[in-house]
Amino acid sequence: MNYRHVYHAGNFADVLKHVVLIALIEALKTKQTPFAVLDTHAGAGRYSLASEEALKTGEFRDGVMRLLSAERLPTLVHAYLNLVRSQNGSQTYPGSPLIAAQLLRDSDRLMLCEVQDAEVASLRQLFARDARVAVHQRDGYQAMSALLPPPEKRGLVLIDPPFEAQEQEFRIIEDALAAAHKRFANGVYAVWYPIKLRQSVLPFHRWLKESGMRKVLVAEICVHPDNSALRLNGCGMAIVNAPYKLDRTLAEILPTLATTLAQSRYAQFKLEWLVED
Ligand SMILES: C[S@@+](CC[C@H](N)C(=O)[O-])C[C@H]1O[C@@H](n2cnc3c(N)ncnc32)[C@H](O)[C@@H]1O
Repeated sequence: MNYRHVYHAGNFADVLKHVVLIALIEALKTKQTPFAVLDTHAGAGRYSLASEEALKTGEFRDGVMRLLSAERLPTLVHAYLNLVRSQNGSQTYPGSPLIAAQLLRDSDRLMLCEVQDAEVASLRQLFARDARVAVHQRDGYQAMSALLPPPEKRGLVLIDPPFEAQEQEFRIIEDALAAAHKRFANGVYAVWYPIKLRQSVLPFHRWLKESGMRKVLVAEICVHPDNSALRLNGCGMAIVNAPYKLDRTLAEILPTLATTLAQSRYAQFKLEWLVED
């Protein structure tokens, strides 16, 4: 595996993913009963934006840094930026595990799966003293069968693979999602996906529409036109069992994200129910 998330930490794709993650966790917290979060592709948990790797691509400059200097942002984006600022004055960018851990209550749990040794070591160090967090060095897709349903019977599964298998990754996600949904039908599932060529995403959307899953919402931003296979033009989050009012929450933030993160005049956002209730 060549993929190291530090090269991409804090880029526009992380921004969308992490703002949606916060919205989902806050929605789950509106009920008092405990829940579990399974992060199937957890990464290192936090990343130095002053590291050689992050500076080499500088992707965070067109991502989180743009928002940090923006004005009049929606409340949810402020909550996200406050989490970022709480990490060493924005020199360190929090990954999904750290964002989730900061939002969970004492009674909630976080399960993290990761395969690379260095990332696992980082996660173990980061959460050594947090009894709510379990780190598993294992395949995240297989873990979806092994660790679901959680005993809490409520939960969120974040699926954020590096897409090294390119379009084939969508098929792997579909299989894992279908198997997990059979075991844990009322879980909330959030899948991050890249947008290069628009037509590469359409079969996944079609599959979601025909899967029998309910309340499937997609939120996307494109910072470039979605017509080139050669670069990451945008990204989306597909949410299964989207919580009540999530569409309204995301409708408030997507226009701001698309405008602030735009890298061309063709930047756009999309919020669409693939399957309603
Ligand atoms: C996009 S990064 C994750 C970023 C993280 N979710 C975040 O938002 O901060 C994808 C991670 O998945 C890991 N990975 C790749 N294949 C995996 C697998 N089969 N199971 C679990 N983790 C995997 C990679 O090592 C990489 O760290």
